[in-house]
Amino acid sequence: MPVSSDIFADQPTDPDLLAELYDLEHDELVEDFVFYEEMVDRSGRRVLDLGCGSGRLISPLLRGGAERIVGVDGSAALLRRAESRIGGDEELSIAKGAGMIRLVLGDVRALGSLDIGETFSLAIAVGLLPHLDGPEEALRLLIGVRSLLQPDGILIIDDVGPAQLPSRDLPLSVDWRRQLQGREVVRRSELMRREAPEGLRVAFSTIVDAVRPDGTIARLPSSHRLWYPSGVALAKVVAEAGMAVELQYGSHDLDRLGPDSERRIFVVRRAASAAGDRKR
Ligand SMILES: C[S@@+](CC[C@H](N)C(=O)[O-])C[C@H]1O[C@@H](n2cnc3c(N)ncnc32)[C@H](O)[C@@H]1O
Repeated sequence: MPVSSDIFADQPTDPDLLAELYDLEHDELVEDFVFYEEMVDRSGRRVLDLGCGSGRLISPLLRGGAERIVGVDGSAALLRRAESRIGGDEELSIAKGAGMIRLVLGDVRALGSLDIGETFSLAIAVGLLPHLDGPEEALRLLIGVRSLLQPDGILIIDDVGPAQLPSRDLPLSVDWRRQLQGREVVRRSELMRREAPEGLRVAFSTIVDAVRPDGTIARLPSSHRLWYPSGVALAKVVAEAGMAVELQYGSHDLDRLGPDSERRIFVVRRAASAAGDRKR
């Protein structure tokens, strides 16, 4: 189990550089923006963004009408990037100045220890669950989330869907080539998968080659162990935490979830359940 909640800990590369490379890839993701705008509009104005990373979703949450956004992440380097994203954007800076945005460095598996001190109508966990080590850690997360949700609060668990999961091991190959400050960056990755009762376990390693200003190449390796819970395993953990899966979608356009779905989105309601209350 990863002891640290920082996905860049134990990697042999500068975390700030890894965070910059992370954004190079993730900042292109915008297709979920409208979905999150609408979820805020529907589910309430106080939002807990679990595993908020570099704050990619803060703008759409504000556009949807969020009055308070608390982002929690285990990576100090990604939160530094979130701060500079906010500092570089007038709308975000005004919102931060008005006390609408708070970023918390901490482990989502131990939300109770973070002294968050407020409750939320909407919690979102986008791309977070695969970073946990399995059902036990997911249960710790969900019990913590439940205690931070208002009685009618909603949690959205949003991860890659069945169609995006690897069906075989993938040998080392080039994923992408991009430009960073006018210089080429190439990412290669390899992946090994294992079916387990609780879902798919994936060992994912990347090697990024980034051209330095002097033309030499910095080679940046990193590796992650990921867990893609089966639908059954996830629904079980949700129930154990005293919550209930209310809706399931296979895309941000609210398509039905099926084997060809690109996403798996669980809309989870904080149910009044004795089981969940006992565990808290
Ligand atoms: C795939 S990224 C998603 C970021 C963001 N939600 C988005 O959609 O752009 C997963 C995030 O979860 C964070 N994370 C992983 N495990 C964590 C933990 N135990 N506690 C806090 N954050 C964690 C990582 O640092 C990373 O920012």
